[in-house]
Amino acid sequence: MTELGREKLKVLIRRAAIQKRVREVAHQITKDFKGQRVHLVGVLKGACIFLSDLVREISLETSIDFIAVSSYGKDKQTSGQVRVLKDLDSSIEGLNVILVEDILDTGLTLNYLLRILQQRKPSALRVAALLDKPSRRIKEVKGDYVGFTIPNEFVVGYGLDYSERYRNLKDVCIISLPPD
Ligand code: IMP
Ligand code: MG
Repeated sequence: MTELGREKLKVLIRRAAIQKRVREVAHQITKDFKGQRVHLVGVLKGACIFLSDLVREISLETSIDFIAVSSYGKDKQTSGQVRVLKDLDSSIEGLNVILVEDILDTGLTLNYLLRILQQRKPSALRVAALLDKPSRRIKEVKGDYVGFTIPNEFVVGYGLDYSERYRNLKDVCIISLPPD
């Protein structure tokens, strides 16, 4: 247990386990899209580290783009509102798109993104998520490539933040906040 300020961090998934699993997911993608090109769309900012590691383990022709949405405020509560803050740079029509997410939680963000991206006529549209917290679902969504299924805890590290902090942690950690 590490204590930074009044927040406590406990390692949930170690760096080595993440690395191994990211490699496995990338190999699965390589197999599924054999001989084709894949276009990875990272959901900023949480997915940037996962995407960076994932794309380097995929042995196919690849391209990448990013989209930024906001569904959360500064705290841990979801507002249920999804808004595009930064759209894709280029068209995805006819491409094999893999939407890369840090975590599937309520499913509201993914549900919205799948709807708007499907309208742009990709050839395939799949979802890769490092983490999945199925117990929190409001919208029924499923990841095609999921790194780890985790319990209902708020986690940080490997791209995931709490109030924009902790994205740089190498392990995925459970953060617990003392009561006010
Ligand atoms: P959803 O729309 O509820 O599925 O979640 C969307 C976003 O909420 C994720 O992409 C994360 O950025 C954020 N989020 C959800 N759960 C966590 C968590 O445990 N730690 C950090 N961010 C989270
Ligand atoms: Mg976030």
